[in-house]
Amino acid sequence: MVDYPFVALDGYEQYPVDEMRRRAQAFLATMQRRRTVREFSDRPVPLDIIEAALAAAGTAPSGANLQPWHFVVVGNADTKRRIRFAAEAEEQKFYEHRASKEWLAALEPLGTNADKSFLETAPYLIAVFVQKFGLLPDGRKVKHYYPAESTGLATGVLITALHLAGLVCLTHTPSPMSFLNGILGRPRSERPFLLLVTGYPAEGVRVPDIRRKPLSEFVSFVGDAKVGGDVR
Ligand SMILES: Cc1cc2nc3c(=O)[nH]c(=O)nc-3n(C[C@H](O)[C@H](O)[C@H](O)COP(=O)(O)O)c2cc1C
Repeated sequence: MVDYPFVALDGYEQYPVDEMRRRAQAFLATMQRRRTVREFSDRPVPLDIIEAALAAAGTAPSGANLQPWHFVVVGNADTKRRIRFAAEAEEQKFYEHRASKEWLAALEPLGTNADKSFLETAPYLIAVFVQKFGLLPDGRKVKHYYPAESTGLATGVLITALHLAGLVCLTHTPSPMSFLNGILGRPRSERPFLLLVTGYPAEGVRVPDIRRKPLSEFVSFVGDAKVGGDVR
């Protein structure tokens, strides 16, 4: 049997309960300020900030630690334009034929349409791919476990990191997105997951007046929840 190495849990920090409470509330307040934006400034963003946010995304947990994700950062005008045209072609079909009445009704309050000019305005587009399986240098396939769940978690960390850095983003999912493989030269073993439009918000931008569910609508506690929380 192989004796795989283990290391001490060095990075983990414990806090007094009051400090935990303060940190949890401070993080909640920060996250409550996150909003999806659909109009961007063309103001450039230093690449190292994007890189740090991506490195944070790379710390996400993943099935069997196989890290089944790939991120492509697009900053050049020509590639952004190609992505915009391909996305708009799909979105036109979506809004005119593909979307069900229910779907269009759900989108109505958000004011979205087939115009995706933000894909050219924003300084960066981050295309996220799920690796359905890994490929060894000799071409053999490596099975990935929970690749979509893992990539979703990494993307959540990325969105959080960008928000904490003072940037905004739009989670964009033109459907279907397979044109991204062609434009970005990614293999067929990778499925486009979503496109994160990233940058600063446009001056005076407005966002839909949406409501977030209160805890009572999306969390339930089983049994005597105090058992886990009754601490000094
Ligand atoms: C998986 C996913 C796909 C989305 N796709 C789109 C999209 O294609 N276009 C768009 O304008 N917004 C898209 N959104 C953004 C949502 O509409 C937005 O997150 C939601 O309205 C809540 O707003 P908030 O992010 O400001 O809280 C998507 C969000 C998610 C999580």
